[in-house]
Amino acid sequence: MDGHRGEFASRLGFILAAAGSAIGLGNIWKFPYVAGANGGGAFLLLYLGMVFTIGLSVMLAELAIGRAARLNPVGAFAKLKGGAWVGVGYMGVIAGFVILSFYSVVGGWTLAYTLYSLGPLMEITEPERLGAFFTGFIANPVSPLFYHGMFMAMTMFVVVGGVEKGIERAGRLLMPLLLGLLVLLTARAVTLPGAGAGLAFFLTPDFSKIDGATVTAALGQAFFSLSLGMGALLTYGSYLSRRENLASSALWVTSLDTVIAVSAGFLILPAVFAFGFDPAVGPGLTFITLPAVFAQMPLGALFAPLFFGLLTIAALTSAVSLLETVVAYLVDQLGFARRRATVLFGVAIFALGVPSALSFGPLRGVTIAGRSFFDAMDYLASNLMLPLGGIAIAVFAGWVVRERLLDEITASGAHRVAGLAVWIWICRLAAPLAIAWILITGL
Ligand code: TRP
Repeated sequence: MDGHRGEFASRLGFILAAAGSAIGLGNIWKFPYVAGANGGGAFLLLYLGMVFTIGLSVMLAELAIGRAARLNPVGAFAKLKGGAWVGVGYMGVIAGFVILSFYSVVGGWTLAYTLYSLGPLMEITEPERLGAFFTGFIANPVSPLFYHGMFMAMTMFVVVGGVEKGIERAGRLLMPLLLGLLVLLTARAVTLPGAGAGLAFFLTPDFSKIDGATVTAALGQAFFSLSLGMGALLTYGSYLSRRENLASSALWVTSLDTVIAVSAGFLILPAVFAFGFDPAVGPGLTFITLPAVFAQMPLGALFAPLFFGLLTIAALTSAVSLLETVVAYLVDQLGFARRRATVLFGVAIFALGVPSALSFGPLRGVTIAGRSFFDAMDYLASNLMLPLGGIAIAVFAGWVVRERLLDEITASGAHRVAGLAVWIWICRLAAPLAIAWILITGL
């Protein structure tokens, strides 16, 4: 069956690879700063609520659509229904393109910090100077571009290798190690003097902080972190064997992703308060906070490069899933050779990332609708395109191809799956209406 497309060798391999797509900078870099900028505890509650209702349901829908069609997003919508639905696939490919452009910039920061933590960074211990080090690094016109290019090159390298050799192996190796280190660092962070204020900030919901923007941010973060709304997991589902249980895979991936994001919150936010940083500083939060934690712990000079190295690999497995979606479209639909598609579009994505990389330095003053180029790309993709894609995927699953997907999810009755009736109604009504309402109030 479509033998040339390749297939995941085992269910564990699939879960680790899909978790590899979901777990990345979204969990460890983005979640803490978005939570920090949106009130902490109230954001956490909103986020968890959305992940386990809308997020889990859209994830199951994506996996089922992908496996039913065994194609990339554009091909899948064309095969299962055709007509205007194909547009959902195209929007997904475009969203992947946009997300990877700024994702790779932060991937580059991570790569740079892996190297810096082997040298200059470890000689600095005062929190303020670590903050200045980061600000200086991202304001530089050359280094962030260089590392952005390196990160994109690494992503392209994995994608050229194909599914089993590249993605699956990287995912398998990484996850347990990253989680172990995260737990260790968190133990240090929460015992820092002054960390209690951060814990309180993260765990005490202050509902007066919730407004349209907070709810939009929580929704966008849920889609971003779970890799939903643009067909990445749809594409992964298309490589999954018919034997595997889609519903339990979706639950596993959602839970693993959430555990890592919340752990990162328990690491970063207490440390932010302990060192007197501002939780609302934005994209630099994790990068200024972590080195300060390392400076305060035994063997910090050892843990720092290890942690940033693992984070680079986590970012890489996510970036690979983004590029893979774009490449699968070009290969399946337009008959591109894999290598050519990867190189051509990898370079184009790098180019789109250039203004994002420079938006913290030379292009600092340039804004689009009041946001820096970097923030504008993130907002456009995460808070608009992904939720719109989510509405379309839910409606498609709930109304258009429901019978086909139910058959796919239960493997024609072989798997008994609890809660499928609830899933159908979330897809049909709850998710589309909730997302639409959030998008409208957010604007
Ligand atoms: N989920 C990844 C993260 O949290 C990023 C990512 C990978 C992504 N693939 C995606 C986000 C597809 C949206 C759509 O870092």
